[in-house]
Amino acid sequence: MAKAKDLLAWAVKTLKASPALDHWQSDREEIESEELLAFAMEVEVDDLDPGDEVPARAARRFQAMVARRAKGEPVQFIEGYAEFRGIQLIAKPGVFVPRDSTEFLAEQAVRRLRRRRRAIAVDLATGGGTVALAVANETRGVKVIGTDLSARAISVARQNAARLGLRATFVTGDLFGGLPRDLRGKVDVITLHPPYVGRRELRELPDEIRRFEPAHTLTDNSVDGLGLVDRAAAEAGEWLKPGGWLLIEVSPDRARAAATVIRRHGLRDVRSTAGGEFKVTRVVVGRR
Ligand SMILES: C[S@@+](CC[C@H](N)C(=O)[O-])C[C@H]1O[C@@H](n2cnc3c(N)ncnc32)[C@H](O)[C@@H]1O
Repeated sequence: MAKAKDLLAWAVKTLKASPALDHWQSDREEIESEELLAFAMEVEVDDLDPGDEVPARAARRFQAMVARRAKGEPVQFIEGYAEFRGIQLIAKPGVFVPRDSTEFLAEQAVRRLRRRRRAIAVDLATGGGTVALAVANETRGVKVIGTDLSARAISVARQNAARLGLRATFVTGDLFGGLPRDLRGKVDVITLHPPYVGRRELRELPDEIRRFEPAHTLTDNSVDGLGLVDRAAAEAGEWLKPGGWLLIEVSPDRARAAATVIRRHGLRDVRSTAGGEFKVTRVVVGRR
């Protein structure tokens, strides 16, 4: 039987050498190797000991998973789920993988909704329900609606809600298009994590993103990546109640431009906020 530490050393070396992966964090390969080995052995990562003997079947499973990861496949697809603010969401091809970096957007929404009674939250471009379901899980009495252009994403969002026993409604539609009209002027918080990559930047993305996320989840085909931000900011005033918030996640290099767009559409108290463990994204906020 192989030792865990030898399998991990091989996996780290394999992942570090992979041109398909974005090596943005120094210990990322170690973290992912441990996570995959724990998954293959059906134990918790914290229970993994480098001196452990790994049964042959688990070792083979681990080696096959590392080979998939080295080709760029996200760990979440290999395992079939993603952890997001303490809930487990289904991860499957065709639907954007929930990222840790989006947890800050959910946190910002939850913080604002907790202070409001019988609040309404709308998560635009919800994907598999990532932010909508975190909000439903962490607040009480909030009516949560998630909407996305992709019927496949909405189907996964509904499956996630059912599995988690969370109350949230999911509708298919272009931006605000699928929402019931009677919500106009009544929404407390609108969240949006849009596809914000400029269309010419798409080809510069690492394989692990470009080959595994559908293009419509990455770019809205605008040159600056802010096409959907512009549309959302233009329409948000109609849907928000006075004092209601629009919260949009973008990359740090786009935060200033996104804030300008949001201001231009008449929202006030507009600013860019940073948080979360790695501070790799920004949440630009503005209120009606
Ligand atoms: C970056 S993903 C974010 C998904 C999810 N909010 C998350 O954070 O995990 C962008 C999402 O926007 C959706 N989308 C793209 N264009 C859209 C549009 N015009 N209206 C609504 N959703 C759209 C995509 O289907 C995708 O699910």
